Amino acid sequence: KKGEAWSARFSEPVSDLVKRYTASVFFDKRLAQFDIQGSLAHAEMLAHQQIISAQDYADIQRGMTQIKGEIDGGQFEWLLDLEDVHLNIEKRLTELVGDAGKRLHTGRSRNDQVATDIRLYMRSAIDDISGLLRDLRAALVDLAEQHADTILPGFTHMQVAQPITFGHHVLAYVEMFGRDAERMADARKRVNRLPLGAAALAGTTFPIDRLRVAKTLGFDDVCRNSLDAVSDRDFAIEFCAAAALVMTHISRMSEELVIWMSPRVGFIDIADRFCTGSSIMPQKKNPDVPELARGKTGRVNGHLIALLTLMKGQPLAYNKDNQEDKEPLFDTVDTLTDTLRIFADMASGITVKPEAMRAAALQGYATATDLADYLVKKGLPFRDAHEAVAHAVRTCVDRNCDLSDLTLDELRVYSPLIENDIFGVLTLEGSVAARDHIGGTAPNQVRLAIAEVRKSL
Ligand code: ARG
Repeated sequence: KKGEAWSARFSEPVSDLVKRYTASVFFDKRLAQFDIQGSLAHAEMLAHQQIISAQDYADIQRGMTQIKGEIDGGQFEWLLDLEDVHLNIEKRLTELVGDAGKRLHTGRSRNDQVATDIRLYMRSAIDDISGLLRDLRAALVDLAEQHADTILPGFTHMQVAQPITFGHHVLAYVEMFGRDAERMADARKRVNRLPLGAAALAGTTFPIDRLRVAKTLGFDDVCRNSLDAVSDRDFAIEFCAAAALVMTHISRMSEELVIWMSPRVGFIDIADRFCTGSSIMPQKKNPDVPELARGKTGRVNGHLIALLTLMKGQPLAYNKDNQEDKEPLFDTVDTLTDTLRIFADMASGITVKPEAMRAAALQGYATATDLADYLVKKGLPFRDAHEAVAHAVRTCVDRNCDLSDLTLDELRVYSPLIENDIFGVLTLEGSVAARDHIGGTAPNQVRLAIAEVRKSL
């Protein structure tokens, strides 16, 4: 049976397998509300420019209102035979309002139509994601504030390096997610351009007013070249790159949460509602959410590569390849949205165990650098100070004790510059409090940084 929008040119129907292969309706129907929004803006312009009549526009509005109701109510019948969301809606419109429905596509192609729909969809997704990034940062700032003074070891190479405050550690992620939000806002600028008017690729012979449509749809400008407008998806790739970075940050944080929750480390606990048990080992409480988020980072990274690869071989202008942009994009949005929502919630479900953190910071000579800095302040060149302290640490390693366990006389073996005031320097509190400059770990700086972030939230 014939019946496709373009079937008159064909002498035999498309095979069922090809129909299924080329159809996108079962995933692009999620663009329906944006497709209707774009169509209404286009029809309004056509009427304003007297390309269609005011009556046609009124009929189209009426039909679209009903279609929207049918879709929202789940009664709309999506047909594979009608290939995609655009043709499904247009066909139903024509059923409902007759010739006015057939006039809607004047001066338009599915190529500029779908590019418009995706941009409307992405603009809305970016706005949601930006809000969720804000929620996550707010939740992390609250956690940082509760632990501005809590001390844990900072690590390099997974070895105890120097004492830091937990608030400072959490604020590192607040910075990362802040840059992620900036990247989203920046990507939005390039998303928010109108392709409609490009038609199939070359523009249209009708006296259209593209700027009017852009204004109706809230776009900042129109795409300035019709070939580019229908063919490039760089704005979607850019979004996926920003999304991959968000997930990369989520994944690093997840890795830390998993390590911190391991009974071997025991720095934190995560509320039961974010964990699951084992079907065989009754004692288990597994950090499934961070582990799964770490895993889902893989698919989001994969979607970025999928879109880059999709684009790289395409000659200008539109090619059907571009239909493959949707599933990776949708899944990126879904994964990111769910992950950010859960993490914002989970931040308040983290219980910190300051004693375990403190105990860990007391092992591993975390204040060795403070001892070296102390000697420098007494006049020793840093390299000599470094060596003197290395000798002291060596002795402590042999004796299995901490630097602060050595007596003043024992310490003075390594440098006669060491005096009684050294013991304040070797404490964890003294160590963190001394790093009191912008970006430093001192509790004082953590509070100042929190105040700064809060102003921007
Ligand atoms: N479903 C198509 C897509 O997602 C719509 C545009 C199709 N245009 C065409 N000439 N086949 O890209």
